Amino acid sequence: MVAVPGRAGYSDMSGGAEVTIDPEALKRWTGTGLVWTPFPISISWLEVGAILMLIQEFKIRSFFELGTNRGGLASILFLRARFDKLRYNGIEIEEKFCDTAIYGEVFPKFNLRVGDAFENMDWIKTCLTPSPACIFCDGGNKQKEIDIASGFINSSDFILGHDYMNEWLTIPVGFKKVERWYLQNTTLCLMSRKML
Ligand SMILES: C[S@@+](CC[C@H](N)C(=O)[O-])C[C@H]1O[C@@H](n2cnc3c(N)ncnc32)[C@H](O)[C@@H]1O
Repeated sequence: MVAVPGRAGYSDMSGGAEVTIDPEALKRWTGTGLVWTPFPISISWLEVGAILMLIQEFKIRSFFELGTNRGGLASILFLRARFDKLRYNGIEIEEKFCDTAIYGEVFPKFNLRVGDAFENMDWIKTCLTPSPACIFCDGGNKQKEIDIASGFINSSDFILGHDYMNEWLTIPVGFKKVERWYLQNTTLCLMSRKML
């Protein structure tokens, strides 16, 4: 059993006491799966939760996903775009992953494009309004995606990189890593020009 410090004030109902979690259950819980979305997703449940939390905390109005794969995260953020203020756009290079059930869902605040992100940077820039925006770099060359994004996002916007320390290491000059409890136990790295 793994002892996990409780978080008084959060809704895990532990009241600040330590709770014990079976490590195998923890693996399943944090792992990737098709349990919670209608389309396969390649990020963990904790990462989905962290993305929803950062959208909430920083009042993100535009979210761009670079590397949408089968549209699992898109299908979750679809609800926020459909019923809330979030604008969601994404791009995926591999047409074979693009199930028209989700890629064909287009309305003014929701659009998935099939194409190469590096050839569509001008379109990506237009998807980062209104601010604050967050660009989620989860494609095939994360360091390059992050470095390019750092050149055009403005001071109220964020870059979110997946697989930090596994696939890429360097936070762009002028950016700081944003530390939050909900980003712990994820491979997400949230970056901002400001100290937050
Ligand atoms: C790890 S998966 C993304 C997972 C997805 N964000 C999710 O949450 O389920 C990476 C995806 O990036 C796509 N990709 C790689 N290079 C790309 C590029 N230059 N432009 C657009 N998509 C790219 C790959 O085809 C792959 O589907």
